Amino acid sequence: MLRQIQDEILRLKKERDVTILAHSYQSADVTEVADFVGDSYALAQAAAKVKSETVILCGVRFMAEGVKLLCPDKRVFLSHGGAGCPMAEQLSPEEIRAYKRAHPDCTVVAYINTTAALKAECDVCVTSSSAVKIVSALPGKEILFIPDRNLGAYVAARVPDKTFTFMDGGCPIHGAVGREEALAAKAAHPDALLLVHPECPPDVCSLSDFVGSTTDIMRYAKDSSAGEFIIGTENAIVAHLQMQCPQKTFYPMSKHLICADMRLTTLSDVLNCAKGAGEEITLDPDTAIKARRCIEEMIRLGG
Ligand code: 13P
Ligand code: SF4
Repeated sequence: MLRQIQDEILRLKKERDVTILAHSYQSADVTEVADFVGDSYALAQAAAKVKSETVILCGVRFMAEGVKLLCPDKRVFLSHGGAGCPMAEQLSPEEIRAYKRAHPDCTVVAYINTTAALKAECDVCVTSSSAVKIVSALPGKEILFIPDRNLGAYVAARVPDKTFTFMDGGCPIHGAVGREEALAAKAAHPDALLLVHPECPPDVCSLSDFVGSTTDIMRYAKDSSAGEFIIGTENAIVAHLQMQCPQKTFYPMSKHLICADMRLTTLSDVLNCAKGAGEEITLDPDTAIKARRCIEEMIRLGG
């Protein structure tokens, strides 16, 4: 049955000139029909090059908004209308405006996991894989980094010549993993390397052998000569790696590393979007102009 749905999606992609972009957290049946699979930064780069008339983003809302910002003339569909990232809505545009009024010299850096309305108030976006490079390249010394405190701390430790301010935000899934859980996973698998996402708390990152984005974690595990890995990001990555590297062994750092929003999309949702029946992303034109600057600046500085 899954195979039949996949075949129908592939047929519709050709017939209706559709490109499918999928985040690495999506399930294998979805990634198999995608034209491109990657982390948030790679998805933004891929979106900027899309030629087709329609794009389906399989992931969460801020990613589909990002595609719409980079492809304003294309029809952009979010694979499942209910898939949001809770972190993206933790701060309000007014909070950022108020901070900027009080600190006119600061550069506001927004993690890409933010709404378009929030991006519109910021100077530049970053992703987990590009944040250090982009923040290092900024001329300003005073940085307000929103919303993820943990990613912010990871960046601040690697960019010592700037001063950082954070607001109270973060991923409710990665941020909830504690040091004890990470230590227990290491004790259970003493020969395994620990690879974690920088959305995890600093005291978890400090126990790891590698910190990186979803794509960077996958690349590291594939290239490494080690045979066992504990994966400190969404558990979909454990499954993908196990399938792609059957000779190696992958363990989840925590059984709680499951993002319900990322798991909402089914193949039937992708089929609906390919038929033109899913949720199409529309953005307020003024917000889009301002938010686009922020995301284009990310691609300019990130390379
Ligand atoms: P990446 O930048 O690694 O794709 O991470 C996105 C995300 O939402 C992680 O939780
Ligand atoms: Fe957002 Fe966290 Fe889910 Fe990533 S894992 S989409 S940051 S809630």
